[in-house]
Amino acid sequence: MTQVAFYRVYTFSAAHRLDIPEKEAEANRELFGKCNNPNGHGHDYTLGIGLIGPPDPETGMVIPLSEFDRLVHEVIDPLDHKHLNEEIDYFKIHRSTGEEIVQYLWLQLQRKFGNKVFRIKLWETNNNYFELERMQ
Ligand code: NI
Repeated sequence: MTQVAFYRVYTFSAAHRLDIPEKEAEANRELFGKCNNPNGHGHDYTLGIGLIGPPDPETGMVIPLSEFDRLVHEVIDPLDHKHLNEEIDYFKIHRSTGEEIVQYLWLQLQRKFGNKVFRIKLWETNNNYFELERMQ
């Protein structure tokens, strides 16, 4: 069966702070730059999600859009307008870098969509994005 990838883009906003408490303040500033700001700061994140699968013979779609939206919002809404470090348990253990956030999203999306999750991209700024792709 032919597999078709379908991509859709979502946005959410969240605050974070990057800091390694065991390091000196100066070393943290050097390592994390603006993301070390003591009071945190925000990003408008853009998340691109690709699902892959054979189009359903009846609907002709990989997944109904309403179902896709509903399940993605169950993943991203808990992050929206939150301070990641302070309000999301995962980021009390993992640093709130793009690399870690994209892994968190990957795990959550796999719980919703299983193996259909094919590729995700997380833009932190216009210039930076982080990507995870399913191993074939
Ligand atoms: Ni930042």
